[in-house]
Amino acid sequence: MKHFISADQFNRENLDELFDLTQDIVANPSKYSKSLEGKIVSVMFFEPSTRTRLSFESAILRLGGKLIATENAKTASSASKGESLTDTIRILQGYSDAIVMRHFDVDSSKVAASVANVPIINAGAGSGEHPTQALLDMYTIRESKGHFDGLKVAILGDLKYGRAIPSLLKLLSIYDNITIYALSKEAFSLPEEYIELMNKRNMKYVKCNSFSDIPKDVDVLYHTRIQRERFEGDFGKEEFIINEEVLNNFSENTILLHPLPRTEEISSDVDNNKRALFFKQAVNGMYVRMAILAKLLGKM
Ligand code: NCD
Repeated sequence: MKHFISADQFNRENLDELFDLTQDIVANPSKYSKSLEGKIVSVMFFEPSTRTRLSFESAILRLGGKLIATENAKTASSASKGESLTDTIRILQGYSDAIVMRHFDVDSSKVAASVANVPIINAGAGSGEHPTQALLDMYTIRESKGHFDGLKVAILGDLKYGRAIPSLLKLLSIYDNITIYALSKEAFSLPEEYIELMNKRNMKYVKCNSFSDIPKDVDVLYHTRIQRERFEGDFGKEEFIINEEVLNNFSENTILLHPLPRTEEISSDVDNNKRALFFKQAVNGMYVRMAILAKLLGKM
């Protein structure tokens, strides 16, 4: 794998391999502390970020690599002077051994990869894909459930503009007998293209109108924030809020995930509940990103 731009690049084998490597990095971090020795990674973020950018940066440093970074690339790089993304990439590849990039265009990582001679890692592309997020989601599910086949997963919140969900659906589609329950306000319903994708890949899709349409023994509740920065107008607040009472209506084996940042959709009274795994998810993100970097660039 040269570039890392879509969840579609994964299958059962390479996903298992990546997660086994992640597990080994968690267990034996010192074994990997020089994996990126002598390497420099560019970190270019054209959109805001806390977890993705800082966990990538921490991952690079923990692997013994160095980084050069622009956190406000939209205004602080030459993009603000009209430089094309492809020109920017052609420059960065002369300075670094890989480029981690978040960009507002859906096709940005494909465009970057089309000219790059160093690996491009997609750290979020508009409302298109966010494959490293989906990987850390899947890693957290594997840690807690131990398997993927047969899982029942409820997706909630902004299913229209969010980019974590499309990548997650693609990774889940690798497995057999997956059922997706979707609960959102009408304005944030899952776009038709993802319903078609699920049909094609033999996933069962159930559109829900209330929490009671989601089975009590659902394995995963995956909530997301309304992506207010991606549309004009006001569709109001989230209607389907998960608080302790709502969570307690589900089985004690149901886990609650969220890519974060959360806004109103998950209330803080669930934070200490052992089934609320979103903070764990964020830590897992750093280890999964270490595994991705080690695989693409590392001496192992
Ligand atoms: C997500 C993103 O940027 O798409 N955040 C993240 O990377 N953890 C989700 C979001 O912003 O709502």
